[in-house]
Amino acid sequence: MRLNMHRTTWLRSDFIFEKYRNTEIKKLAKNDEAMKTGARLFSAYCSVCHGSDARGAKGFPNLRDDEWLWGGSTKQIKESILNGRRASMPAWGGALGDKGVEEVSAYVMSLSGRSVDKTKAVAGKARFVMCVSCHGIDGKGNVALGAPDLTNKSWTYGGSRRPSGLRKTILLYNSCTWSLWHYAST
Ligand code: HEC
Ligand code: HEC
Repeated sequence: MRLNMHRTTWLRSDFIFEKYRNTEIKKLAKNDEAMKTGARLFSAYCSVCHGSDARGAKGFPNLRDDEWLWGGSTKQIKESILNGRRASMPAWGGALGDKGVEEVSAYVMSLSGRSVDKTKAVAGKARFVMCVSCHGIDGKGNVALGAPDLTNKSWTYGGSRRPSGLRKTILLYNSCTWSLWHYAST
């Protein structure tokens, strides 16, 4: 009896998901029932990392702002959720040393309009050639690599001046490594 009830619940959700699967996401977004189901799923599977309000936390991207590491189109977001994402930012401590990291940090801060030590920023700009292959010449990032835009005020790892802020990211490399598959299988 118990088993049968379980089976019925599964069949019912299979039926609902099948219906949703064949509906365009734009249409689903206008469907109250689908949105409620989505919110429940988000709270069960996603909020532990992205927060119950989806604003993220240090190391976990905010899903409510305009910055999308991997692109914000329906197709790209679906891809992020279905297959997971794994960004890879090298550590620069070895190549640049403390002084180099400080300089390049000053330059990166200047990209989002903050006032910085000009001499350091100029030296940092020259060092930024090591970063352009991923973050772009203008620092605006590349969604194909999950390389973030460094010119806005949205920071996955924190943009503060403190040694634990921006400098630490560049020095040591922080990696968001995540896949739903990995999470589901743990
Ligand atoms: C175990 C922690 C964790 C859970 C649970 C999790 N995520 Fe994530 N999510 C991350 C991390 C970390 C990243 C960044 C990955 C990267 O860039 O390498 C990410 C990235 C994303 C992105 C891409 C964001 C962008 O800016 O392009 C989307 C969309 C996303 N998650 C949605 C979800 C949804 C929906 C769920 C639930 C089904 C979920 N995540 C569950 C940790 C998590
Ligand atoms: C091989 C590609 C690559 C290169 C080269 C690279 N980065 Fe990154 N960078 C990334 C990726 C991918 C991320 C996102 C990491 C994540 O979310 O886990 C990132 C993240 C960052 C962040 C964190 C942004 C945030 O929102 O908190 C900073 C700061 C940064 N990079 C600065 C630099 C600087 C400065 C250089 C050059 C010295 C550099 N990167 C070179 C790929 C690269």
